[in-house]
Amino acid sequence: MIARTLFARLALALTLLLLGIGLLYTVLSATLTRHYQQEFLQNLNRDLAANLVTGRKLVTGGVLDQKALKETFNHYMMVNPGIEIYLLDQHGTILSFSAEPGKVKRERVDLGPVRQFLDGREFPLFGDDPRSFERRKVFSATRIPGEDQSVYYLYVVLRGEEYERIEQLYQHNFLLQLSGAALLVSLSIGLIVGLVLFRLLTRRLHSLSRRMQDFEASNFSQHTPWQQQHRHLDEIDLLGQHYNHMAERIQEQLEALKKQDVLRRTLIANVSHDLRTPLAAMHGYIETLKIKEQDLDPATRSEYLDIALQHSRRITRLVDELFELAKLDARETQPKREPFALAELTQDVIQKFRLTATEQDVALAMESGDSLPFVDADIAMIERVLENLISNALQHTPAGGHITVSLRQEGSAITVQVQDDGAGIDARDLPGVFDRFYRAGNSEGDTHHAGLGLAIARHIVRLHGGDIEVHSQIKLGTQFIFSLPVWEKP
Ligand SMILES: Nc1ncnc2c1ncn2[C@@H]1O[C@H](COP(=O)(O)OP(=O)(O)O)[C@@H](O)[C@H]1O
Ligand SMILES: [Mg+2]
Repeated sequence: MIARTLFARLALALTLLLLGIGLLYTVLSATLTRHYQQEFLQNLNRDLAANLVTGRKLVTGGVLDQKALKETFNHYMMVNPGIEIYLLDQHGTILSFSAEPGKVKRERVDLGPVRQFLDGREFPLFGDDPRSFERRKVFSATRIPGEDQSVYYLYVVLRGEEYERIEQLYQHNFLLQLSGAALLVSLSIGLIVGLVLFRLLTRRLHSLSRRMQDFEASNFSQHTPWQQQHRHLDEIDLLGQHYNHMAERIQEQLEALKKQDVLRRTLIANVSHDLRTPLAAMHGYIETLKIKEQDLDPATRSEYLDIALQHSRRITRLVDELFELAKLDARETQPKREPFALAELTQDVIQKFRLTATEQDVALAMESGDSLPFVDADIAMIERVLENLISNALQHTPAGGHITVSLRQEGSAITVQVQDDGAGIDARDLPGVFDRFYRAGNSEGDTHHAGLGLAIARHIVRLHGGDIEVHSQIKLGTQFIFSLPVWEKP
């Protein structure tokens, strides 16, 4: 449970690491000190064995003087209780020693190290400890010439049993405790400092994760951004920044989803409403025709049929427009671009509306500079845009008014402007005119138009990489402007 937090793991790791270092340090320093001590001791006592023998006649007339030997042993053991003295023959066999009998276990000492010692090899050199079968200790040695070219060796063990007993006491009581305490204190300080540092670091992580939790708990609506705390970005700050971006993205997308949901609901409501009215009317007229078949004169019958037909056309148009918009929305229809003369297309569309314009007593004209370059667009789609804009203008321009479609080259685009001096659109309605099913105040009571025309037009223009703008002043007129890219020879 505790070891699950990052801080606990870091703390555990640090503690183990420091313990390990402490142990390693203790072992290493103990070994090194011992090695150094032995080298030092051997160097210091390099000539000890030789000095013991000088001035003393241990061998008289080729024969070992046992009495003199015993005296020497006793004398030096008293002066320096830390050493142990042995007399060896030329094969290393122990002839005599300074200890109580029983204490000495070996009968022979390996002469190899002794010869190395006498040859002046580098210290420390370890020789057999006669008081043990396996221990090896630093020593000092000297050669004592005997009769008939035979030799004896005086072999002095420098760290005798007494020496080691006292040394151990000393270590246990003082040195070890002191260095142990020093080590413990420094490691504890390291541990505490490390823990504080880890706490500081993990605290920031903790605060970041709290923010994320709060964000989630608030159902992704409340986002407290992560603030960078230092001039230089570290990994936690980076993580915080990523979190900020992510949270903003989530909020944006949630907003977009909510908007789309509202849009979809209104769309369905609008569609049902716009379908119900003409359907009900059509139904009513057909029913009347059916019930009163006998009582109606042919003229009225034909009139009723005409009205029913009108409503059915309206429904068809609405469904067609909806279908078109849905396809544009789903990006199913992509513009099939080709080069064409926009002026010619405009002329054709104007021609289609000529009769209606004349009937309404509205002047419909085109203005275009000569020899405009081709545009690169989908003819059928652009025709649709022009139709929508011109039919809107005709609808909202009273008798005596003017509608002008002008084409102008601006850099690598041709700008189309459809201008009328009709009713105009209220400033309040302007931002919404491109929304689907939006009918401005000037269309109130109009049951023939669903408010999809401008939504389709804007969709098409955007598919061509441009946008459509509207400027209008109530009672003065309206102006729609969009542009298409000029075709460039590949
Ligand atoms: N030239 C214009 N003059 C005045 N109002 C316009 C004009 N063009 C569009 N509108 C307003 O914008 C609304 C949206 O137009 P549109 O999307 O074509 O729908 P509709 O099906 O009503 O024509 C119209 O209902 C109308 O109120
Ligand atoms: Mg329209």
